Amino acid sequence: MIDFKNKIILAPMAGVTDYAFRKIAREYGADFCVSEMVSAKAMEFNDKKTGTLAEIREDDTPIGIQIFGHEPRCMANASYLLSRGLYEHTKSKILPETIDINMGCPVKKIVSAGDGSALMRDIDLASEIIKECVKASNAPVTVKFRAGWDKESINCVEFAKMAEDSGASAIAIHGRTRAQMYEPSANWDYIKAVKKAVKIPVIGNGDINSANDAIRMIEKTGVDSVMIGRGALGNPFIFKEIKAKMQGESYISPTAKEKINLALYHTRLMVEEKGEKTAIPEARKHISWYLRGLKGNAPVRVAINHALTYKEVEEILNDYYSALD
Ligand SMILES: Cc1cc2nc3c(=O)[nH]c(=O)nc-3n(C[C@H](O)[C@H](O)[C@H](O)COP(=O)(O)O)c2cc1C
Repeated sequence: MIDFKNKIILAPMAGVTDYAFRKIAREYGADFCVSEMVSAKAMEFNDKKTGTLAEIREDDTPIGIQIFGHEPRCMANASYLLSRGLYEHTKSKILPETIDINMGCPVKKIVSAGDGSALMRDIDLASEIIKECVKASNAPVTVKFRAGWDKESINCVEFAKMAEDSGASAIAIHGRTRAQMYEPSANWDYIKAVKKAVKIPVIGNGDINSANDAIRMIEKTGVDSVMIGRGALGNPFIFKEIKAKMQGESYISPTAKEKINLALYHTRLMVEEKGEKTAIPEARKHISWYLRGLKGNAPVRVAINHALTYKEVEEILNDYYSALD
């Protein structure tokens, strides 16, 4: 079992934390990454694309594969298959360190199906899901959830205890309610209360956008590890920054040119993995994030949004790079 003590973790982000992004996050110091969320129901239907989301390359460990759904039997089946490398459409036989259950996603389509954070409103069902997954999985099961459904029903402490009693090996808590989606700022007091309430490792998540934030989160809440989502978008440097700060080392922020080079490297990795036709439209948002805050980036982002090939992206970014001298 991975020891979730003092780990800097890349949060699961659908449409974002694919192999390319995870690889880069690791190169910059992330200790553990979580996949994009995988639909247990889609696995039941033997969906091919879902298998791709759960692929693990040799250099992509340690990793947690995150699943979502609300039917205990279906979730258990997904845990069984993924933890043993047995899902027919996942070719890689490298096994995940953990199976993570998504009980925090706030998106309407997900919660209206009874998945994600909807499970925070049905603690008995959530418990049954965790128990069944723990029984079926060959890997430790972790659970990611929020402060509660809305401010009238904050139940993260009760939920955390339930997860521990149901057999979860670690939990990740995002200090917002479902109703808050991603704004306003996360309330770390909830994270602190959860940490106090359970013995299993607690991973704190929400609004860590710098090394100082990470250190503040640990000091304020006592969490065992921290998890970073949006703070890593276009900024995988954040992992290096946190590591340096924690070890008392100096850290130099990346230059504009380093960011452009990384945007190109990231795009290349995506193209190698998914092919140009899929990768370039998906890479546009990453490139935009890398360019955020850089001088004169607006026309460059517009041009990138029309690029269809790696060569075009390369030309646009190389021109921008040269103009920065
Ligand atoms: C684009 C995007 C996709 C996300 N997808 C998932 C997901 O698939 N599973 C999950 O548990 N959380 C997901 N999240 C939530 C993040 O993991 C994290 O909990 C949240 O962004 C708060 O952390 P942050 O303030 O560091 O971003 C997503 C967030 C974003 C912004």
